[in-house]
Amino acid sequence: MDNLVTIQGIARRSGVAASALRFYESRGLIRSERSRAGHRRFPRAVLRRIAFIVFAQRMGLSLDEIAAELAKLPAQRTPNGRDWARLSRAWTSRIEERIAELQRLKAGLTECIGCGCLSLERCQFANPADRAGRSGPGPRYWIGDRTSKR
Ligand code: FES
Repeated sequence: MDNLVTIQGIARRSGVAASALRFYESRGLIRSERSRAGHRRFPRAVLRRIAFIVFAQRMGLSLDEIAAELAKLPAQRTPNGRDWARLSRAWTSRIEERIAELQRLKAGLTECIGCGCLSLERCQFANPADRAGRSGPGPRYWIGDRTSKR
């Protein structure tokens, strides 16, 4: 158990609370071993998985989606650089989508985003009679729907 780290050590290094680490473990996202006294001991490599989980959550993925992504990594050994590269390649388009979404949000914060509220004077002009709502739910312009715009 020389290479194993306590939950406090992992929490300190990852910046993630021990309670969150226990929760991740209960959801099967990370795994620990038990010491003779029954304390959790994590392999140091778990730090990369935790960083991935935190990043993925910031990207808006649910824990189920994150679990599905992590399941693509080899279970019987510590993932190597190639394993992580394979995983991150699939993420490029997702990250680009998110960037575009945030740019639209930034650009549209003071304008009509097609959410159906019609509460701003500007919206009355940009989304008359909630035309945007005919294309589906949600803030239509913000999610990139151009078909219903003006
Ligand atoms: S901001 Fe809601 S409909 Fe325009």
